[in-house]
Amino acid sequence: MPTVVHSLAANTRAERTVRVELGARSYDVLIGPGLVDEVGRAVAAQSSKAKCAVVTDDNVAKLHLPGLEASLRAEGRFAGSIVVPAGEVSKSFSQLEPLCSQLLELGLERGDFVVAFGGGVIGDLAGFAAGIVRRGIRFVQVPTTLLAQVDSSVGGKTGINTAHGKNLIGVFHQPTLVAADTATLKTLPDRQMRAGYAEVAKYGLLGDAAFFKWLESNHAAIFAFDDDALGKAIETSVKAKADIVRRDELEHGDRALLNLGHTFGHAFEAWTRYTDRLLHGEAIAIGMCLAFRLSEELGHAPDGSAARVSAHFSAVGLPTQISNIPGAPPDVAMLLKLMRQDKKVRHGDLVLVLARDIGDAFLTSDVQTDVLETFLAAECGQA
Ligand code: NAD
Ligand code: GLY
Repeated sequence: MPTVVHSLAANTRAERTVRVELGARSYDVLIGPGLVDEVGRAVAAQSSKAKCAVVTDDNVAKLHLPGLEASLRAEGRFAGSIVVPAGEVSKSFSQLEPLCSQLLELGLERGDFVVAFGGGVIGDLAGFAAGIVRRGIRFVQVPTTLLAQVDSSVGGKTGINTAHGKNLIGVFHQPTLVAADTATLKTLPDRQMRAGYAEVAKYGLLGDAAFFKWLESNHAAIFAFDDDALGKAIETSVKAKADIVRRDELEHGDRALLNLGHTFGHAFEAWTRYTDRLLHGEAIAIGMCLAFRLSEELGHAPDGSAARVSAHFSAVGLPTQISNIPGAPPDVAMLLKLMRQDKKVRHGDLVLVLARDIGDAFLTSDVQTDVLETFLAAECGQA
């Protein structure tokens, strides 16, 4: 059993705490059940007067908002809640503009806090609004999906999508605190839990073979909400992310490894128009399988590694190939065009995250377009 620690920075109780070391902008990621009720106290510990505007979506509002509002009210910090429609479509200019206006109407000042309460969509949208309103308001992440607890709430990437692709408009804006309440995950639909799990597995695949092996044996306990297994999976993921963000906050190098599977995955998401046809985590699960198959085909990764990745994703109910996406198969030329919108493109060259083995990812711009085209055509069943 992990020891419950008293975090001096946040003045709250969490089963596990990971520090993101970024000098004056360092912050704690608190992990454990019941933390929603402690957010008011944590904010009060960060500032003697600041007030909070909560940004959430309509699903999370119905299930969990009263608890968060009560926690903020108890400390006299509650300024109001803004509820946006659930889903990827809210990561858009059309939601950003009214959100910024509402934050201004609530009278939020630079020293106040935006509290992003929800999954990665809310964290990215609310974090972006916090980053640009009055040129930067402080913000706190209270992630409520597995994906957001292990990935999107940590590291300060915020933003929205456009028709050109995912996350193409945004800013780096670090939160001052992340409170990952693992109890909120119990209301998450199974499909969303599985999609978030893809990001957990990502940390094993990109840099920690022992963690991937542990996941192969322990995934059932995670999905059964076993406190120890779930806590360990989240803490290990957050530690891995915190370590990369500490080394490369603005993604000049290593941080791009966190994009394992994303160049393919983001193209699938844009192609399926960010609908429920394909969730982000499902898209990157397929993308990671493709990255390992391509790595094996190019002789970087040993035979059998791609099959091991696919076998694990299949075991937890994640898709592993393009044909698992419902509907007509994509057009290869369109996929390549969408992949070219990737933020890692340099001087027109695609930079892919490939792997030498499970737990050993690397960046390369050496994959020629014709090789990629042939590979994608085969993956799309159009060879
Ligand atoms: P999401 O925010 O859309 O949440 C998924 C669904 O779960 C939504 O319908 C939401 O209303 C619902 N939900 C959230 N919490 C719930 C709960 N506790 N109980 C019941 N329902 C709940 O999606 P997501 O998977 O959390 O995040 C995906 C987004 O995160 C993508 O836009 C992706 O680009 C982004 N992302 C960002 C980063 C980053 O570093 N900023 C990293 C990874 C992913
Ligand atoms: N999820 C990728 C990153 O934060 O860099």
